Order: sequence, then structure tokens, then C-alpha cells
Amino acid sequence: MATLFHNLQPAPPDAILGLMEAFLKDSRAGKINLSVGVYQDARGTTPTLECVREAERRLLEADAAKSYLPITGLAEYDAGVQELLFGEEHEIVIAGRASTAQTPGGTAAVRAAADTLWKLRPTTKVYISQPTWPNHPSIFAAAGLKVEVYPYFDADKNGLALAAMLAAMEHMPPGSAVLLHGGCHNPTGVDPTPDEWRKIAVVLRERNLLPLIDFAYQGFAEGIREDARGISILCGPGQEAIICSSFSKNFGLYSERVGALTLVAEDRAAAETAMSHAKTCIRANYSNPPAHGARIVAAILADPQLRGQWEEEVAGMRRRINGMRKLFVETMKACGSTRDWSFIERQRGMFSFSGLNPVQVDRLRSEFAIYVVGNGRINVAGMTEGNIMPLCRAIAAVTQ
Ligand code: LMR
Repeated sequence: MATLFHNLQPAPPDAILGLMEAFLKDSRAGKINLSVGVYQDARGTTPTLECVREAERRLLEADAAKSYLPITGLAEYDAGVQELLFGEEHEIVIAGRASTAQTPGGTAAVRAAADTLWKLRPTTKVYISQPTWPNHPSIFAAAGLKVEVYPYFDADKNGLALAAMLAAMEHMPPGSAVLLHGGCHNPTGVDPTPDEWRKIAVVLRERNLLPLIDFAYQGFAEGIREDARGISILCGPGQEAIICSSFSKNFGLYSERVGALTLVAEDRAAAETAMSHAKTCIRANYSNPPAHGARIVAAILADPQLRGQWEEEVAGMRRRINGMRKLFVETMKACGSTRDWSFIERQRGMFSFSGLNPVQVDRLRSEFAIYVVGNGRINVAGMTEGNIMPLCRAIAAVTQ
């Protein structure tokens, strides 16, 4: 009899979540997790934000029904997402030429974007940055789309390879989707400046390329509004775009799975029609999103006091990460490393691209119980004053 599961070889572990599982199983004392992109505070724990606790208290009292949400989720949440992306006064919001669907996390937003692209134009090529979040190519491939790469990171200057990126865009077939990280690029921590975003926006428009923006770290670089500058530049008058939001990090709502898919079209009617197609993709996938996380976000955004508290708490996370960047560079020097690590202070958001090679990453894990993603990405938010010294000693040892 032909069987399906007998004698199967196991699939490889996930490049990021597989490390999280391995870390949990590791029984060595003093182990350090710089792999998965989860914020940790100075004590090394992942806090629930105070504004979230307060919103949850209020939700518990309000005792909302647990009936299904619409396919596009909670309407007030969707409106809040657009306000965060563009600001209340933005032409896109006033014209109503964006339509948003709440999704279970940023990953489902990317998948819904991919399924919608496939439905509307199955021949669309999706160009992803080299490097990018390892799940990006898997999601687009799973949706049946062809995935290509464009240069992004200049390893020699630890910065943006802008000229190479623009040159590659000149050769992409019109109608292709270009996946861009709205800010705090994952894994490199290298973002375009506003001027560079403008240059990118010009080529996208001239070449008729669709910006497909993954935006998961709003507030982790400079501030809530400041970090959305790139998106505003990319979404100029009349420009179409797809934006995938995640609130895992900036609301600390990882396990609640809170994200959104926003389709920006030339006018309100086109946006609504486009969303009607996205809805059919969502319905065939997870049907409709879970309510709790979105209710928390909507409650925080709607209440000026909670919103102020949230912005303060995001600023606190940002300040701590930047403090750790500085401390890391100083401690590497104190540990006798002769490498120039100053680029770590220039990179933005949760991650830095350390330049550690796979052999060094393996040694960190096997000899020192330090977990780093295979491509050398380190989660700076996993550093604390308590673990910085053993961490830097180990990195100095493997990079000698
Ligand atoms: C990460 O990049 O570590 C996070 O976005 C978590 C994930 O799902 O990979």
C-alpha cells in the first residue's frame, strides 16, 4: 500500500523559529538568545506593555461578544492602521484610496498579499532584497509566484548598495512587485535615507513597479511618524502599493498575531474592488482574523492617554536597544577585538548584520550557548548589561 508518511525525511528546521526551539531545549546555564526578533528588557524578559495591560483590563470589563469578525477584521483597527501608516491628514486617507484588512500577524499579511498578487496577475515576479527575512521567499513561492532578488546590502561599507539596487530595478519587467522593508530592515538594520527613498520611488514609478512594503518595526528607528517617512515617499499621488504591517514588536503582541494588509489604489472604488479580491484569498486561507490583539491595538490608538503611554513605551524600547548598540561596541573594544564594530551603532531597529560567518555562528552556539541566526543577524534587543561581557568575549574569541 502506498503510504504518505512512512519513511519520510524530516524537513529542515526553520531558520529563525527552529533556533528558538533549540534555545528552549538547551539546558546550559548562561545561554544567550540573539536569534528570534523578540524584544527583551534589561532583565532579559519580554515585557507586556503597560498600555496593553490597561487596554486588556478595559476589554475584560467591556465583555465584547466572541462572534466572528468580518473577513477584513475590526473596522476601527483597520482605520487605526491607516492612521499609523500615513497620518490622519494624508491624501491617501482623505481620498479613501486605501483599503485595509486585519490579518493574523505580519506573516499572514504577506501571504494574503502574495495570494492576491497571484490571483490578480499570476505571472507577477516578486523581487526581494538580498538579504531579507528568510520567510519572504517561502511565502511568495508557496503562493505560486516567481521570486527574484535585488542587491541591497554593501558588506564593505556596511550600508545600502543604492546604486546597484537602482540599476537592478531598471531591469525588472514592468508590473513586477518589489518587496521593500518600510524601516529597520530585517536582517541588516540598514535603511534608505529620505533622499534615497525618493530615488527609489522615482525608479519604481518610471518602471511601473509595484512597491510591496513589509513594515514591522514602526517606532524602533526614530519614532512612530518619522519611521513612516519612507512609506509616504513611496506612496506618492496616484501610486499603487501594498503594505503589510505587523504589531508584534511595537505593541509587544507577538503571540496575539496582530497585523494588517493595506492595498493602496488610484481611488476609493479601485481600492475597494482590490480588497474584494484579497478577501476571497483570505476566506480560503484563515477565513477571518482573531479579535483579541486587534481590540487591544484599537483601544490604545483610540484613547489619547493610552496612546501617549504607548508612544513612551516604544521610545523606551528604542532607547534601550540603542544603549545596547553603544555598549556592545565599547565592550568589544574592551574585550580586545581589533575589528571596527562601529557600524553596529549606525544600524537601526532590532537587528544588526554582524558579519559573523556560518562557522563563527556555529561555534558561538556549540561552544558558548549563544544563538544567532545563520546569516549572522543578531537581535540587539537580546543584549543586556548582564550578558554583554560573556557575549562580547565569545564573539571576540570566534572572530580572532
Ligand atoms: C524575526 O525575524 O525574528 C521575527 O520576525 C520572527 C519570525 O517570525 O521570524
